[in-house]
Amino acid sequence: MSEEGLLQEIFTSPLNICLLCLCLYLLYKIIRGDKPSSSDDQDERLPKMKKRDFTLAELKEFDGAQNPRILMAINGKVFDVTRGKKFYGPEGPYGVFAGRDASRGLATFCLDKEALSDKYDDLSDLNASQRETLSDWESQFTFKYHFVGKVLKDGEEPREYTDEEESVDQKKKD
Ligand code: HEM
Ligand SMILES: *[C@@H]1O[C@H](CO)[C@@H](O)[C@H](O)[C@H]1NC(C)=O
Repeated sequence: MSEEGLLQEIFTSPLNICLLCLCLYLLYKIIRGDKPSSSDDQDERLPKMKKRDFTLAELKEFDGAQNPRILMAINGKVFDVTRGKKFYGPEGPYGVFAGRDASRGLATFCLDKEALSDKYDDLSDLNASQRETLSDWESQFTFKYHFVGKVLKDGEEPREYTDEEESVDQKKKD
């Protein structure tokens, strides 16, 4: 495709224009969110959360507004993303994921509400490339954030986490 044809393609399709606006908007939010503010530091110093499992209903409280801590689930694992508050806080570009299972949204690069469910999502309809995207996100989060526990399916019992696991984890991360 010639350069002209490509530009024309980009600027005539409403979908592309929307995507372009979304990109610019997110970029703006991220750049603006970069400015350090004093309230951030305070929340970043929340004590480390004790390991535990969560139902989706229990997770919801941790959205950075109802509770200053922000939790987010990916592929059945719950991560404490409070230090990524500029991304996931109420004002952040990815705030829709706070207190939620973000798996489907991340796997499909979709920030819409339709990718977020209040019910347990087994993700069985994701295809190979979406699963790969999701596991890349999971690795990134495992590396960057503290793992808190698992997401419970309906009727599933929370497991007991020993202090030992906690301290092994501490040694690895600190
Ligand atoms: C459309 C244009 C988009 C732009 C320009 C954009 C840009 C960025 C930038 C600059 C970062 C910051 C990296 C850093 O500072 O460490 C980031 C992180 C991120 N983006 Fe996007 N993004 C876009 C779309 C999306 C979409 C559609 C999703 C998800 C559905 C998404 C999810 C994320 C997540 C989860 C992070 C990681 C934050 C973290 O490290 O905790 N982004 N993005
Ligand atoms: C998976 O689904 C997405 C979105 O429908 C599609 O773009 C992609 O090509 C599919 N990948 C495979 C390997 O089927």
